[in-house]
Amino acid sequence: MRGLTHLVSALLAAVSYIQPGLAQTPYTDAKTGIKFSTWSQGSGYTFGVALPEDALTKSATEYIGILRCTAGWCGLSHGESGQMTQALLLVAWPYKDQVVTSFRYATGYNLPEVYSGNAKLTQISSSVNGSTFEVIYRCENCFSWNHEGATGSVSTNEGFLVLGYAQAKAAPTNPSCPDSVFGQHSTFGQYGAEINNTVNKDYTKWAALATKTSNGACGGTTTTTTTSPTGPSTTSSVPGPTVTCVAPSRDTYDYIVVGAGAGGIPIADRLSDAGKSVLLIEKGPPSSGRYDGTMKPQWLDGTNLTRFDVPGLCNQIWVDSDGVSCKDTDQMAGCVLGGGTAVNAGLWWRPNPADWDENFPPGWHSRDVAPAESRAFARIPGTDNPSLDGVLYQHEGFDVLSNGFKQAGWKEVKANQQPTAKNHTYGRTNYMFDHGERGGPMATYLQTALKRPNFGLYVNTIVKRVVRDGAHASAVELECNGNGGYVGKVNLTPKTGRVILAAGTFGSAKLLLRSGIGPADQLAIVANSSDGPTMVSKDQWINLPVGSNLVDHLNTDVYVTHPDVVFYDFYAAWTDPNPNDKEKYMKNRTGIFTQSAPNIGPMFWDEIKTSDGKVRQLQYTSRVEGEDKTGTNKTMIMSQYLGRGSTSRGRMAITPQLTTVVAEHPYLRTEGDKEAVLKSLDNLRAALTPVKNLTWALPLANQTTANYVDSLVVSAAARRSNHWMGTAKMGLDDGRVKNGTAVVDVNTKVYGTDNIFVVDASIFPGMSTGNPSAMIVAASEYAAERLLKLTTAAAKRNVEVLS
Ligand SMILES: Cc1cc2nc3c(=O)[nH]c(=O)nc-3n(C[C@H](O)[C@H](O)[C@H](O)COP(=O)(O)OP(=O)(O)OC[C@H]3O[C@@H](n4cnc5c(N)ncnc54)[C@H](O)[C@@H]3O)c2cc1C
Ligand code: HEM
Repeated sequence: MRGLTHLVSALLAAVSYIQPGLAQTPYTDAKTGIKFSTWSQGSGYTFGVALPEDALTKSATEYIGILRCTAGWCGLSHGESGQMTQALLLVAWPYKDQVVTSFRYATGYNLPEVYSGNAKLTQISSSVNGSTFEVIYRCENCFSWNHEGATGSVSTNEGFLVLGYAQAKAAPTNPSCPDSVFGQHSTFGQYGAEINNTVNKDYTKWAALATKTSNGACGGTTTTTTTSPTGPSTTSSVPGPTVTCVAPSRDTYDYIVVGAGAGGIPIADRLSDAGKSVLLIEKGPPSSGRYDGTMKPQWLDGTNLTRFDVPGLCNQIWVDSDGVSCKDTDQMAGCVLGGGTAVNAGLWWRPNPADWDENFPPGWHSRDVAPAESRAFARIPGTDNPSLDGVLYQHEGFDVLSNGFKQAGWKEVKANQQPTAKNHTYGRTNYMFDHGERGGPMATYLQTALKRPNFGLYVNTIVKRVVRDGAHASAVELECNGNGGYVGKVNLTPKTGRVILAAGTFGSAKLLLRSGIGPADQLAIVANSSDGPTMVSKDQWINLPVGSNLVDHLNTDVYVTHPDVVFYDFYAAWTDPNPNDKEKYMKNRTGIFTQSAPNIGPMFWDEIKTSDGKVRQLQYTSRVEGEDKTGTNKTMIMSQYLGRGSTSRGRMAITPQLTTVVAEHPYLRTEGDKEAVLKSLDNLRAALTPVKNLTWALPLANQTTANYVDSLVVSAAARRSNHWMGTAKMGLDDGRVKNGTAVVDVNTKVYGTDNIFVVDASIFPGMSTGNPSAMIVAASEYAAERLLKLTTAAAKRNVEVLS
């Protein structure tokens, strides 16, 4: 174990519960007499705080902190829910006999930038003793932050803060320098901190002890030259290797598809198959070895496999996400070729017909979509038996729970053959994997597309905005995002060309906003940003509810332990794979590495009819992990997803830096949603409690479900499942009209435009039963069918009729 158990829950569902109960210990520093309340995580991380005397009545702007950790680096988040993104972070590490500190700010799950606001740290004392280092410091302007216009704050007068901690074993690359690069944490989390006992009348006296402002020493940044063989050379002051950027082709395209993920790849393939000229533009680098991706552990050197190809390595996204996850959204999303389908756990579900029928408007019901869905599953059938020898490896945990369900009268199903059997059912996990490798859209649709002369693919290229004149798009603007990326403008075929946004729930919504399509308040933010001077003029803005209707599976984890459960260390497989397992995989694609980490299964389903008369769908993913919460590796976590029928909705917003944030989370905003969560957990507890030797850990056997659920913080960082959808909702009710909620029509065309379309998770009006990628691929297949039938004249007529 490498202390990462709770990281992996995030594979399918990023769950990092706020721990309500990290022990709070009083501590007095012997040298200064400063009295802290401290919280420790394991033996290697302690943070403590002392607050001004009036901090409980008047929100403090500063505090005195103590950080004591074992090397490489450690830090804390001051954010509202102790989250990593969109919050002031403080990082510290030892350098010789000093402790270097650095304020940081992260817009996504990547290496945080150096914070640009006015937080000030003055050291009171520091010490380095072997691998342990300690710094006592005064932190001014640390409870509110402003990083290049993105703001946030917490208040001390509620007597409670939620704090985040992070700790890494590896030292920063250049430890003498506060601006140093460093790697991802090996442990992290959030916890509730009572601060009633942390105020002190001696605060001012103690604060006066803070005198040391010097903080490491280092040189300046390097300058690199960016050249373009077909365009002018440009020089960039961004540190890093030399990047060559290229001017785009002067060709025009029938279709430009933005984003090569679950939505973008299939439609690009289908349209090119129909003879259209198609350019697929992906912001990120190649991922799979099939496309010359290079990110891999040493043991894959010399093979054409990368971390994105081997199912058992999929959890690497939670161990090292820098350079893989999107930098411009505060949630986890893959910004590499393949998008989410390159980084996800590969769970692959034939849609429950009710997911189409209840969520989507007429024209998109299960009978309409059925042929397209069948085409998607013909291309990517998926498997519940990924090892090529037909063996399901390490199924002990699977057996423990399945036996419980069997005894309780739940029915075992082959989920992808019985997509409607979603009530009191359980079964094996279905993956999109093929031949022991990740498979999915990259291994199928993209392969066939690339063989066609009328198909082009740009990687490392960001589409900045759609260039439009009123309702009509004529081009997209490109920004180079890495070696071989394109910079400039690429044009659509005049009059008939179309642009399809498939940049994901946050990416497509952001592109719409940058193209002058969205709510006025959001467009005003874009207008006031660096985009302002070149943004489409205000008289051409199209007012649509882009960013509203944000949905995700609400995740609620429960934990049990059982002596028969066997843990497999998928983390160790990165550096030190079990030789037998490695050999099995390399030789004939058998063994545990063909299965997704961390040993997922059984899956099970429940439906709850709530007092409001609705039926709500729940899906559970169980897996062997969770030792950090139970103290034994014989633990299974069961993640409950609240899906179809949920009525809570959130909102995505854009920041002045042009990043996106979950401004309002979509969880537990309605009584019916809460009722479904509680009733279904009661069903689960009833089903499993009679299992011999099974122990409930969270909730404890004597704790009520309501009490347990109420103890969990509800926030995006704490309860997300990474199944974000809905920011460009499809519907018949044109969002430009009063009370209209839809951004795209049933042809996936953005209302008020004649040739801008959105085809990805953002058009989903509501949550699906299960992990959504297969349904997104099916939707993309169906959208291709509709677009090929939609004539230019009909698309134009629609604009006129509806506007
Ligand atoms: C860690 C994780 C685990 C998951 N596990 C599962 C699972 O097991 N099963 C499942 O079904 N679902 C899973 N999901 C969800 C699933 O992967 C997503 O719902 C799905 O990929 C969304 O498809 P999409 O086409 O909307 O967006 P994406 O697949 O995210 O694709 C969007 C693409 O657009 C690119 N892009 C964004 N902006 C631009 C721009 N301006 N210019 C050019 N390109 C751009 C991005 O780089 C990305 O490649 C998981 C998601 C995550 C993050
Ligand atoms: C290279 C730098 C970093 C990378 C790549 C990174 C990546 C990540 C990822 C992927 C997660 C999500 C894990 C999950 O949801 O399961 C996460 C969570 C977290 N990180 Fe980081 N991190 C980095 C640096 C930091 C720093 C410097 C801090 C604080 C000082 C920090 C604090 C946290 C906290 C508190 C969480 C949990 C809350 C949340 O998900 O927002 N991280 N990080």
